[in-house]
Amino acid sequence: MASRTYPSNVPLSTPEYRFPPGLAHNLLWRVLKRMRPVDPIPFFQSLAEHFGPAAHYKIGRQHVVFINDPEYVRQILVVQNDNFIKERVVQRSKLLLGEGMITAEGAEHRRQRLAAQPAFHRQTIPVYADTMVHLAAETRDRWSANQQLNIALEMMHLTLNVVAKTLFRTELGEEVREIAKAINDIMGLYHFMILLPAAESLVHFPLPGVLKFRRARRRLDALVYRMIEQHRSAPDDEPDLLTMMLRGSYGDAYRTDRSRDAQLRDEVITIFLAGYETVANALAWTWWLLSQHPEVEAKFHREIDTILNGRRATYDDLPRLRYTEMVLAESMRLYPPAWAMGRHALRDFELGPYFLPAGTTVLMSQFVMHRSRQYFRDPLTFDPDRFGPDARAGRTRAAYFPFGAGGRQCIGEAFAWMEGILVLATIAQKWKLRSEDDQRIEPEPLITLRPRRGISMRAVPRN
Ligand code: HEM
Repeated sequence: MASRTYPSNVPLSTPEYRFPPGLAHNLLWRVLKRMRPVDPIPFFQSLAEHFGPAAHYKIGRQHVVFINDPEYVRQILVVQNDNFIKERVVQRSKLLLGEGMITAEGAEHRRQRLAAQPAFHRQTIPVYADTMVHLAAETRDRWSANQQLNIALEMMHLTLNVVAKTLFRTELGEEVREIAKAINDIMGLYHFMILLPAAESLVHFPLPGVLKFRRARRRLDALVYRMIEQHRSAPDDEPDLLTMMLRGSYGDAYRTDRSRDAQLRDEVITIFLAGYETVANALAWTWWLLSQHPEVEAKFHREIDTILNGRRATYDDLPRLRYTEMVLAESMRLYPPAWAMGRHALRDFELGPYFLPAGTTVLMSQFVMHRSRQYFRDPLTFDPDRFGPDARAGRTRAAYFPFGAGGRQCIGEAFAWMEGILVLATIAQKWKLRSEDDQRIEPEPLITLRPRRGISMRAVPRN
């Protein structure tokens, strides 16, 4: 592949385009020369350091712009949202998610979002609180003193159970381990399946990785089809999300070329995956950060002891568990579960002083922006007080976007805050979690930001 050197702001293909400053070499050329993929987080961080709010590079013929400016993020996600669809890597995840809410576009996306909305409405979600606390208490009561736990895995099992029970009225029981393993297998193959050129064709070849992916996908599909079947045969006096999906709003709108169940499968699996992995990671990172910051942990314990006084948490406690919420917010600043997002431009567009062609990929990273000195004082310090009522006013609000923004903003945001706060409070009533000193904790940027190798922690009784 030919590489090409070009100075900043000099138009490339058509004279009128104005590109941000950027890399002198085509990125594909750099990757081929080194024969290894670029590590995305340090790469994005160096773009932000060298080029500031916007940086331009090319991969082959593809224009890419990486933005690290809250106003540019707002332009792409909110103001000019109609000109953008999800970028290619997200579209590739159709291999797993099919045509669910995350990958759908236009009218199909609007249909799905509208139909699911009631299940995520602020007036609906309080009914999930008791189940969340009940399942968190079950997890907490199963642990024994000084038990060594892979906290990332424990949180995954818990949040999988929460999504299954609250949104789909399904008890996973022992099956949760098998489902979590199937999902882990899929995530482990993520780079292989999603980033490979021609992944859509490769998926039909019997390569070992592909076979493992297909097996794991079949396992998840079996669960989803069983849930659909159970909902069809059970009376729906307690309607949940799947009931809503099965009912009228979804009924007539089906495209004729896909079977109704296959479409439902995509919608269910999307919510299922989006709704558990993100929260599980946020919780795992929070437990680890708390263990590293005893003064923050002590303040967090004081809050839950004072507010709950030994009883189980309820929905009504949420507004008073303010410090717990600040701890979670600060944890998602340093370790945002959705660590980067991308869009593909449908038409030429302006961005500040730049004018960019249709087809440009725009990338942004919560991880990079949340750790930028321009937007957060002392950005690498874990300090929940920066989310306190006084400090909030002084922050650049749009620089913090763990749930995205605009028309595709996370539908499960309120659900996630509620679950995160209730789970933290319930488990911390009984346990402190302690990590091994010599453990190397590193973020692994897959679909979500996971702790590579998990986090091994010991459960220490609080009293
Ligand atoms: C800490 C937890 C969570 C984080 C950090 C998170 C983050 C995000 C982000 C950044 C997006 C936007 C992606 C984009 O615009 O490209 C998104 C979308 C989405 N999230 Fe979440 N999420 C979380 C929890 C949840 C939960 C609990 C659910 C459901 C139970 C959920 C369901 C979804 C769905 C369906 C979308 C697609 C929305 C659309 O395209 O209209 N998420 N999430």
